[in-house]
Amino acid sequence: MQKLRILFQNNQDWVKSRISKDPAYFQRMADAQDPLYLWIGCSDSRVPANEIVGLEPGELFVHRNVANLFPHTDFNCLSVLEYGVDLLKIQHVIICGHYGCNGVKAAMEDHRLGLVDNWLRNIRDVYAHFKDELEAIKDPKERYNRLVELNVMQQVLNVCHTTIVQGAWMRNQPLWIHGWVYDIATGTLKDLDCCVSGIDQVEKIYRIRLSKKDWLN
Ligand code: CO
Repeated sequence: MQKLRILFQNNQDWVKSRISKDPAYFQRMADAQDPLYLWIGCSDSRVPANEIVGLEPGELFVHRNVANLFPHTDFNCLSVLEYGVDLLKIQHVIICGHYGCNGVKAAMEDHRLGLVDNWLRNIRDVYAHFKDELEAIKDPKERYNRLVELNVMQQVLNVCHTTIVQGAWMRNQPLWIHGWVYDIATGTLKDLDCCVSGIDQVEKIYRIRLSKKDWLN
């Protein structure tokens, strides 16, 4: 506890600084949240979601895990997405990967790390799917960067293939799914231009015919 005293001190300083600029700040935060965006990013400590995009508390709904994955059977991811889309009515889902991602790097190697190897299997699947494109890239760093991008694009598709997103589109709720990459070395974001905003952009096999009853669930 003694060792963590500095964090409590930081917290007190932060509270004071917020209140000095805006006395009603915490009262307003306690009342409600109204974010327009859902951020799905990597747990990496160098990728602080709100700071990167200059958003305040209350403006960004955030989910982070190792290597910014959205496996279609992960209840944690699905619960966050459902809450964000159905209840908070967020309008943009941003999958943000980052260059230098250790999760992606581990998926390109054959060392056993532990339980996380099963999680990172999702990235090995992306590699296997784009093997020809990736192995045509001679420079290992460039190949690694490309896998970071392809992994983001795959997660964008995974989000689009959910009944949650397709239900929102069917009831004409505006919803855009974006794929971005953050460059830790420069602090800049790159848009991968793989934005999806409607069912017509989803491959047929992944389209789900939802009845009106389903949209409302
Ligand atoms: Co990472």
